[in-house]
Amino acid sequence: MSSISERFVIHGGQRLHGTVNISGAKNAALGIIPAALLTDETCRIENIPDISDVKTMIRILEHIGATVERPEPGVLLINAANVRSDIPIQDDLTRRLRASYYLLGALLGRFGYAEVSMPGGCYFGIRPIDQHIKGFEALGATVTTEGAVIRAEAADLLGSSIYMDVVSVGATINLLLAAVRARGVTVIENAAREPHIVDLANFLNSMGADVRGAGTDVIKIHGVDKLHACCYSIIPDQIEAGTYMVAAAAAGGDVLVNNVIPKHLDSITGKLEECGIKVIENDESIRIMSDGSRPKAVRVKTMPHPGFPTDMQPQITTLLSVCKGTSSIVESVWDNRFKYVDQLRRMGANITVSGKLATVSGVSVLHGAPVDVDDLRAGAAMVIAGLMAEGTTVITNIKLVDRGYESLVEKLTALGADIRREQYEEE
Ligand code: UD1
Repeated sequence: MSSISERFVIHGGQRLHGTVNISGAKNAALGIIPAALLTDETCRIENIPDISDVKTMIRILEHIGATVERPEPGVLLINAANVRSDIPIQDDLTRRLRASYYLLGALLGRFGYAEVSMPGGCYFGIRPIDQHIKGFEALGATVTTEGAVIRAEAADLLGSSIYMDVVSVGATINLLLAAVRARGVTVIENAAREPHIVDLANFLNSMGADVRGAGTDVIKIHGVDKLHACCYSIIPDQIEAGTYMVAAAAAGGDVLVNNVIPKHLDSITGKLEECGIKVIENDESIRIMSDGSRPKAVRVKTMPHPGFPTDMQPQITTLLSVCKGTSSIVESVWDNRFKYVDQLRRMGANITVSGKLATVSGVSVLHGAPVDVDDLRAGAAMVIAGLMAEGTTVITNIKLVDRGYESLVEKLTALGADIRREQYEEE
């Protein structure tokens, strides 16, 4: 049976010029939207990115009884007065995105009961949730799994000290969501420090929560009885900004990446400068200038924030595929995040992978080819490869890219790229 799918067609070799405006942060939105379930009053959330993961999260909220209005583009009004925690959230919704597991923390915090099917998301090795469960249990919840369903319940959530064995963005967010309404004080040690954790904490505080220390590795939460309505604007997307920075470096040109928090981009800026790219930092924008010459070889190691983000690893590896010399990339967050390298090889890249290490022997140029996408950021990397390659690149399975990049084709076209989205019949 055939079905209609979409693909990107890119004619490479165009320099990029102009300004690109960065949207609200996907990973902040995916924590903050479920956080609105913690009150029965209406929350207004601005700078919401128009991406499919957000649409899925909204469907999950509506499924359990929330009303979600979109009075203007980029704005959501969420009211969770009629939400029920006893409506199971099944896997036809949860498997579409990783962040569906934030419903566990949010519903546990609000009602003391949550029932959610196992989350989906990109596959880059085993993605355990033991730290989430350990944290919920420390707060006094009983967590059981039956098949694909996870149930968490607590007659009374009690603040507690939780030491995380690994630095986990998802577990830190989930525990924040549950702990803001627990009785007493919760301390999360070895917490993740990503910008979207700070954004979630700021959102919760604007609802009346008492969260301190977000952005450091110790977060202290004084539980409160009630949270209230608020109005909040989400931070710009660090990874979308980084993707356009690398795209400009790879294709060459002069691009102003606008509406960013430059501090969030330090590790990416630093690495591009090491590659020989000119980067100018302004208050709310970053300008990338490149004459299109091959980058210098560098070493990259992904780390939790403030280290180099794993969600930028496929993009920087793609830029380095044409470096002068030999670069090495160590993926220290995930076990299996180099699958996309096979696709880059089809375009002429010379990259060998051994476990968590990729060694890139720079080639002078990539050549357009048909390539497939198997996760969101790998998709962004294929787009960058297509922009820098000679000839035509056709990228399939782009629904994964739509999960996290708002108006990608429109934004790149405005910069002068030759990229279009087209439908085709898939066998
Ligand atoms: C989030 C991001 C994802 C990003 C990742 C790392 C969202 C929706 N997704 O994913 O895009 O790639 O952070 O920045 O925000 N771990 C455990 N036990 C746990 C949880 C995690 O061992 O209970 C391990 C994981 O296997 C991994 C590491 O901790 O090796 C980091 O995972 P984590 O930060 O939780 O990633 P996510 O929150 O899933």
